[in-house]
Amino acid sequence: MLFLKNGVDVFGKKIELLILDDKIFKIGEKILENEIEEFEKENSDKNLKIIDLNGKLVMPGVIDIHTHMREPGFTYKEDFATGSRACAKAGITTFYDMPNTIPTTTTLKALEEKKKLAARKSIVNYGFHFGGSKNDNASEIKKVLESGKVNTVKIFMNVSTGEMLIEDDEILKKVFENSKLVLVHAENEMIDKALKLNKDYGNGLYVCHIPSKEELIKVLVAKKDKDFNNEKHPIYAEVTPHHLFLNEEIRESTKRNKMLLRMKPELRTKADNEFLWEALNNGEIDTIGTDHAPHLISEKLEKITFGMPGVETSLALMLNAYNEKRVKLETIQKLMCENPAEIMKIKKRGKLKEGYFADIIAVDLSKEWTVGIDDTIESKCGWTPYENWKLKGKNILTIVNGKIVFENGKFSDSLENGREVEFYE
Ligand code: DOR
Ligand code: ZN
Ligand code: ZN
Repeated sequence: MLFLKNGVDVFGKKIELLILDDKIFKIGEKILENEIEEFEKENSDKNLKIIDLNGKLVMPGVIDIHTHMREPGFTYKEDFATGSRACAKAGITTFYDMPNTIPTTTTLKALEEKKKLAARKSIVNYGFHFGGSKNDNASEIKKVLESGKVNTVKIFMNVSTGEMLIEDDEILKKVFENSKLVLVHAENEMIDKALKLNKDYGNGLYVCHIPSKEELIKVLVAKKDKDFNNEKHPIYAEVTPHHLFLNEEIRESTKRNKMLLRMKPELRTKADNEFLWEALNNGEIDTIGTDHAPHLISEKLEKITFGMPGVETSLALMLNAYNEKRVKLETIQKLMCENPAEIMKIKKRGKLKEGYFADIIAVDLSKEWTVGIDDTIESKCGWTPYENWKLKGKNILTIVNGKIVFENGKFSDSLENGREVEFYE
């Protein structure tokens, strides 16, 4: 049992929470002493731990629906243990893993294997995107969706890390016909194609990591068009922190950055950053996903290797942006907690609400720190593109399923395993 007192929510309102087992039992501006006594009496077999937040910000745990945790197959880069620790430390209480592992998550068998690995090793909650295969796995897609083992399918329509590029139009069509929500890695004209596939055959489209004004406009125009975007086949737009905070100029500024700041889609211009920020603040972006795609620094420096780590810095970068008056806290909560849960149709997570799972974080908005110097990197890749960045705002408490996982810079001594998310549809 936990009592979180003296917190403040993203609207600046006082908030206190009572947590019983894995759920939020009660939320209020002030929970009265006699209510707590009653609560303790009714649950006298359990200990009540009280945490005084002293006016710190309380939010639902971040749900990052775009990560590559590299297990199985690339566990020298990351695995579910190290990746989930990186999440927990930074305030992410649920991640979704992408299918471009070895083997690719394109068969029921591979999915089951991956689920076992995550169940054994992850300290935060997790979900999986099934993969569309270039060798036509429509029957497997049907099977896993019908059995409720996943809710979503990810496809690659451009070259990226892994062997998952689908070029055959017939196969693409079958993926859209047989899926519910399809997440796409689509760049430039492939975005047009994905939008059309969703309209003609699909049941929902989530455009991952939109990097530029030009590509975002394609998605925004389709979003406003009832033929393209409706209840039968909605469209969602994701941006990553790196396409908001980094650009070609920063990439080209040092020899090292020229190698490290490479990913698909590639970084664009400062003007593109600004356009993405504007759309984000206008409510035109649905989610922030990190596209956490760790590679070892040696791999990055040897030859162009696409992908960068992201889970450890996503929330802190956004909190810093809040401190710079570039975004509202409620927008951060919407794009990083609420919308991901809603779009993925995750049961009872993503909100601070009585009866919901107690996936909760507390944040120190005025904490100033230097990335990579004040903090060790938990990700197995051991580096971050934001090294030496001075940020203001940091996660200080992570609660997953009602249990404290991380508090004041330290992981708890006894960590429990995270749980797989469940869906309501
Ligand atoms: O840069 C990227 N890296 N983009 C992707 O689409 C995949 C990812 C990875 O898995 O490394
Ligand atoms: Zn991608
Ligand atoms: Zn990705």
